[in-house]
Amino acid sequence: MNLKNTQLFESHAPVVLVTGAARRIGAAIALCLHQAGYRVVIHCHQSRAAADQLAAELNQKRPTSALVIQADLLQASEVDGVIEQVIDWSGSLHGLVNNASLFERTDLQNQTFIAMSRGLNTPTSRGLNTSTSRGLSAGSSNAQSPLAPTGKPREFVAGIAVTRFQKLLQVNVLAPWQLSLNARPWLEKTQGCIVNMTDIHAEKPLKQYAEYCQSKAALWMQTKALAREFAPLIRVNAVAPGAIAWPEGDNALSETMKTKLLAETPLKRHGEPRFIAEAVLSLFNNEFMTGQVLRVDGGRSII
Ligand SMILES: NC(=O)c1ccc[n+]([C@@H]2O[C@H](COP(=O)([O-])OP(=O)(O)OC[C@H]3O[C@@H](n4cnc5c(N)ncnc54)[C@H](OP(=O)(O)O)[C@@H]3O)[C@@H](O)[C@H]2O)c1
Repeated sequence: MNLKNTQLFESHAPVVLVTGAARRIGAAIALCLHQAGYRVVIHCHQSRAAADQLAAELNQKRPTSALVIQADLLQASEVDGVIEQVIDWSGSLHGLVNNASLFERTDLQNQTFIAMSRGLNTPTSRGLNTSTSRGLSAGSSNAQSPLAPTGKPREFVAGIAVTRFQKLLQVNVLAPWQLSLNARPWLEKTQGCIVNMTDIHAEKPLKQYAEYCQSKAALWMQTKALAREFAPLIRVNAVAPGAIAWPEGDNALSETMKTKLLAETPLKRHGEPRFIAEAVLSLFNNEFMTGQVLRVDGGRSII
């Protein structure tokens, strides 16, 4: 096939947007869908270089088959521009994979609630913790924290905690919501499909990640709700991965934790990003599935 024909073929190929697709699971999804014949829009935020490199590799295989869009999903105004940019490039949209995600620890041991910092119904006001606290009074900014079980004073970080929770909800719930609503008219034209990336811990909470788990549970419900709202023209499904790509940075697990986690997995092994990509592709292909969540977790969710 000469270059002109290849470009003609590409301009008819279906188009999919994958958020957070520069690295890890998102990159595997983009690669897999590209291999299946899709033109791929690789969304990224901080991993621009990795996204450009992936797009270059895909465009080398088939010219004009990949595009990079950079947007911070924390900013609603930037989320709005994403579908517009996809349409400017391709004129159509057949699939959306809401894969980008924030994964942050919530340390409840050393935190307390905003109500407590305002002196409302506090343990001290109920006569608890009197030996460990000088007490909290309504509106008092100097009130000392009761001790956490660790013996350290609990921090009154309600403002920070609310901000972190809001960020998790923005990236993991509101951005997919906004993208899905913005994509709707385009997906209706192509009878397209949405796949959301949730987590097996949306059903069984992961200790120390209470806010993250709540956000993924909301995305699970969003999947089912939009499947009803968008039927019959658009199908909406989700994938719930188990242990696929080990968390990085502050969330990194010790070797002991990793071993324990794999021991608790019936298939006694770690997953790979391609297993998730294959699940996404199967949801794209199966025209009689909507409102479903595929658990891809080596059996972890059944124990
Ligand atoms: N890894 C696992 O084993 C596992 C297990 C259960 C569920 N999941 C789910 O599967 C999906 C992929 O997992 P993963 O581990 O590959 O994800 P990840 O590495 O934690 O995050 C994927 C991407 O999300 C993007 N992102 C984060 N904040 C953003 C923001 N403010 N604006 C725009 N993009 C933002 C980042 O893009 P940039 O790098 O470009 O900034 C990041 O590369 C996620 O939805 C995750 O919750 C994964």
